[in-house]
Amino acid sequence: MRLILFLTALSLGCNGTYGDSGELSTDDEPSESVEPADTDDPVEEDPAFDAEGFFQASCTGCHGADGTGTDSGPDLTGRVPSLSDDEVSDAILNGPGGMPSFSDTLDDTEVTELVDWLRAEFG
Ligand code: HEC
Repeated sequence: MRLILFLTALSLGCNGTYGDSGELSTDDEPSESVEPADTDDPVEEDPAFDAEGFFQASCTGCHGADGTGTDSGPDLTGRVPSLSDDEVSDAILNGPGGMPSFSDTLDDTEVTELVDWLRAEFG
């Protein structure tokens, strides 16, 4: 009887040991993936997206190189401060008035980054 209990305890102990080493190697993986995370982040957060470059390429034709507007688009330095982030992203996604919609061009993250950039630039 005692021997059986002993063997049972021993085999439980072994299982526990395997479990522990499994957890240990799992613990190691996140710290190893800290380095590749630099490679993963661009996919998730899309730091490759250059909000200022996008603005210069896609918005300045109507809103002017400095955002102060042209005959084709209003002065964003006057508009952005009075709009909420949602209103600015709505404009980018829906294209009010004569403005094109950028909903097919930009994903949610890029729109957010562009709105953040507009906010930082135009108030
Ligand atoms: C083809 C010209 C054109 C382009 C390109 C354009 N816009 Fe506009 N945009 C307009 C016009 C016209 C309005 C005014 C629409 C209205 O008030 O009805 C406007 C309005 C806006 C507004 C203010 C919306 C509001 O509710 O007052 C924001 C913000 C804006 N544009 C941002 C952008 C951004 C950012 C880009 C580039 C991604 C861009 N626009 C590209 C023409 C353009």
